[in-house]
Amino acid sequence: MNRKGIVLAGGSGTRLYPITLGVSKQLLPVYDKPMIYYPISTLMLAGIRDIVVITTPEDAAQFRRTLGDGTQWGLRFTFIEQPSPDGLAQAYLLARDFLDGAPSAMVLGDNIFYGANLPGMLAAVPADGGTVFGYHVADPERYGVLGFDADGTATQIIEKPKVPPSSYAVTGLYFLDGTAPDRAARVRPSDRGELEITTLLESYLAEGALRVERMGRGFAWLDTGTHASLLDAGNFVRTLTARQGLQSGCPDEIAFLKGWIDRDGLRARADLFAKNEYGAYLSRLLD
Ligand code: DAU
Repeated sequence: MNRKGIVLAGGSGTRLYPITLGVSKQLLPVYDKPMIYYPISTLMLAGIRDIVVITTPEDAAQFRRTLGDGTQWGLRFTFIEQPSPDGLAQAYLLARDFLDGAPSAMVLGDNIFYGANLPGMLAAVPADGGTVFGYHVADPERYGVLGFDADGTATQIIEKPKVPPSSYAVTGLYFLDGTAPDRAARVRPSDRGELEITTLLESYLAEGALRVERMGRGFAWLDTGTHASLLDAGNFVRTLTARQGLQSGCPDEIAFLKGWIDRDGLRARADLFAKNEYGAYLSRLLD
């Protein structure tokens, strides 16, 4: 069964107030593209074409306008509204009918990944059980954190621990098998009232069914959670783009290289953005 994609792009975005009083965090710019282009690109690099985008009811119309139905990238978008931000694991309950028993990859709408062998790493994820990615960070207490035994095997995942058992955060990219919605239904709200993704992952871990891949220092997992880190992420993308003359997190390019859209499709997109460097880049891809 083909793997399906989930982009979780709801939430209240309070840490980016006052900017996010009027617009969803995941639609804010990261240099030259809306933030959500990057996680969508990640799913595309994993070979996923059938994607549900979960948003707040208030922001749904803007996401539909920004993303369309997906045909411009050879994708199929489904939109689901999350009435209130009750936790990451709730995404699997909301997406149950969409998934229809299929394995899935869920990416948080504010998570940006960059790295040379990212496509290979994503393509290699098996369909069974669960797979998550651990990333060394300077401030693990802000994330779900992995604990390891003496052999380096992951033994625990703790959400925002005061005393982190390691410096490895669990990134916001979760490959889970078709049992995820049933497992999510068994997750009870945490002390902060959320259905925690870490509790869902624990159910895989307890059965020895959770693979933990470490993303080494050749990868960038960028934070967009504060005003400063959002600007840093934009500058990172700008630096790469200016130096290499290559895009990153560009769904138009990935769709074209994968053969999911043809030259006419890419030309239509290039024409749409004819007034800027993004459009010029797409035009150059046609040469
Ligand atoms: O970024 C990775 C981290 O994401 C993980 O290490 C943590 O285990 C995981 O809980 C999560 O932590 P955050 O503190 O970043 O979660 P936050 O509440 O900020 O939500 C992450 C994104 O998901 C954010 O863009 C908003 C969206 N969201 C969040 C909730 C709780 C939703 O769309 N719906 C929700 O119900």
